[in-house]
Amino acid sequence: MSLPTTTTVRAPGRVNLIGDHTDYTGGLVLPMTIDRWTVITGERDGTSIELRSADEPAPVHLHLPVEDPSIIEPHWGRYVAGVAAEMRAIDGFDGRVTTDIPVGAGLSSSAALELAVALALGFSGSVTELALLCQRAEQRASGVPCGIMDQLCIAAGVADHALMIDCTTLEVRPVPVPDDVAVLVRFVAHRTLAGSEYADRVNECARAEAEIGPLAAATLDDVARITDDLVRARARHVVSENQRVRDFAAALDAHDLAEAGRLMVSSHESLRDDFGTSIPVMDAAVADLVATPGVYGARMTGGGFGGCVVALVDPAAAADVDGWVVRPVAGAHVV
Ligand code: GLA
Repeated sequence: MSLPTTTTVRAPGRVNLIGDHTDYTGGLVLPMTIDRWTVITGERDGTSIELRSADEPAPVHLHLPVEDPSIIEPHWGRYVAGVAAEMRAIDGFDGRVTTDIPVGAGLSSSAALELAVALALGFSGSVTELALLCQRAEQRASGVPCGIMDQLCIAAGVADHALMIDCTTLEVRPVPVPDDVAVLVRFVAHRTLAGSEYADRVNECARAEAEIGPLAAATLDDVARITDDLVRARARHVVSENQRVRDFAAALDAHDLAEAGRLMVSSHESLRDDFGTSIPVMDAAVADLVATPGVYGARMTGGGFGGCVVALVDPAAAADVDGWVVRPVAGAHVV
């Protein structure tokens, strides 16, 4: 009999630079991984999953195979169970989880946990398959009909690059983040997407698509034909945001940081006014950052209703700005 071998895996968090609430309509996003990680170390052993976390009072015990991840307690075990269920795991794992990704901050701590669990359980397949499996796991665990951005960013991350992702084709294009700009993240308020209006937004976008076809291919003229005011505003955000992602990637390529910053602010305004996913403390944080010397632009990031704001900042000024500087790192991997 061979002794179980120790496996260590790690998966980073992510911050979205621009392109929010576009992924679930097959649109464009431009997130990047951040240098904060969830790490799992342990042994593949037995017929159950046993995971302890330094940050959670209760450990996770899962008997395999897992049938319904959405009823598992403690709550963080649902993400573990979602992955185990999607992988139809029958071989156990016994290990420890540590993380320095803040939980409930909109930096994809749950997606990082899913990716780390999948690798710890021995997932083999492509980066895209890994991301799709973990997206299904998230949906089953949380009941939130999330898109692919978080899981694909964390699976495909490239050091020193943001990723432009086409959420229809799942094509990923690494976009270099210039050396002379700092990406700064400021935590504003805790949030959870479950029970939030996230699912309402997904439905509102589906109503728009029932009227004018796929939003990923729609123009602002198409959007103008939508009869319902609210649905038209939601669609206007998505269609204009897809264009902002293209323009932002071009601005980074051209090293036009002022233009990149302007596009972030206009993305924030669109999420606030047309998409209704900002909250006043996030608007205030963005206004404060934009008025700070050395800041090119700022916006809310991720699902909204709380979480973080992200800013592009002159590195010489970043030390004086409240928040922390993040840099893009390699995607989830076995160490
Ligand atoms: C959450 C979801 C993503 C994406 C963002 C908004 O992070 O998990 O799929 O929809 O919100 O851009």
